[in-house]
Amino acid sequence: MAVEVVRVAALADLPPGRLLYVEVDGLPIALANVGGTIYAFGDSCRHEGGPLSAGALIGETITCPWHGWAYNVRTGKSIVPPVGLRIPTYPVSLRDGEIFVTIEWEE
Ligand code: FES
Repeated sequence: MAVEVVRVAALADLPPGRLLYVEVDGLPIALANVGGTIYAFGDSCRHEGGPLSAGALIGETITCPWHGWAYNVRTGKSIVPPVGLRIPTYPVSLRDGEIFVTIEWEE
């Protein structure tokens, strides 16, 4: 397992309540600012791959723009049926106004 800490965006580009799409070596990631706390999670919906970063963020809930599946951005767990699915989540750190995401790559 290789662990990589990657700068993905400037904090100034992600105001509270907003979403941002980033890619790390081809891995699609969505960033969400929930009241000043930044979360990072897989951008692809578990249903048919809809782009979650283009969805609606209300509190900790992201709703897919394609057919309305919803997930908690903190836990990655789906909150509408089929409950129990989850999207990947990634640890976030902030340094000098920059957002970093930690990714564990399978080797
Ligand atoms: S692709 Fe997300 S709900 Fe269908």
